[in-house]
Amino acid sequence: MHPRPIPNPATTPAYTTTAATKARFWNRVARKYAADPIADMPGYEATLRRVQALLSPEHSVLEIGCGTGTTALRLAASTRRMLATDVSAEMIAIAREKLGSQTQPLPQLRFGVADAETTAPAGACHDAVLAFNVLHLVSDLDIALQAILATLKPGALFISKTPCLAEMNPLIARLVVPLMRALGKAPHVLVFDAAQLRSALERHGFAIEAVERHGTKRKDIRVFIVARRPR
Ligand SMILES: C[S@@+](CC[C@H](N)C(=O)[O-])C[C@H]1O[C@@H](n2cnc3c(N)ncnc32)[C@H](O)[C@@H]1O
Repeated sequence: MHPRPIPNPATTPAYTTTAATKARFWNRVARKYAADPIADMPGYEATLRRVQALLSPEHSVLEIGCGTGTTALRLAASTRRMLATDVSAEMIAIAREKLGSQTQPLPQLRFGVADAETTAPAGACHDAVLAFNVLHLVSDLDIALQAILATLKPGALFISKTPCLAEMNPLIARLVVPLMRALGKAPHVLVFDAAQLRSALERHGFAIEAVERHGTKRKDIRVFIVARRPR
């Protein structure tokens, strides 16, 4: 069956989301997010090993939606340079605190505030873009994928691990999440499954190289995708 396209809120003419609006929820929860333990540590470590094997010390890497920088701090040493960005200034403030308190200096790593749905002015300068737990949170997936593509050199890698909320119990995705959102306890989310995400990537010209799940718990809705911008 051909996957259904992901609903696009931007087709509503009145729809505009500024970076400040997108950041509001995440600024508010940043300290709590930083304190929460990683839910599936073996699955997280498996993802890190997989990504490390794909990166090279020659690579210029961009991470979007980096949160408090946990992953960037683990991966930066495997790169030539790494820019890790997030729309939330609070998340980036915590990431910079963490970078400042590292015992081993990480001169390759910089953190910055940026919206993943705005095309970076530097153009196609990265050998890899990483997006962990963020593609389901952007306002418009097509705009985000377009912006990612524009920052990748021809032949460069896009690596994403994203919760596919359409693979959850429909009651949670369609009822509980909107209710929590109305109460200010959840962010805006896009609901898609792995086939829809894959098809959105292909529509933007990405060549899919791997689709995996690294979770060690019973049901893993976080799909790990390795895609490449064709040369
Ligand atoms: C669930 S957290 C994931 C953080 C980190 N990547 C991780 O795996 O722990 C989602 C992050 O995406 C960021 N985010 C949401 N929408 C964004 C956007 N449009 N551009 C950049 N970052 C965004 C949020 O501020 C938040 O820090």
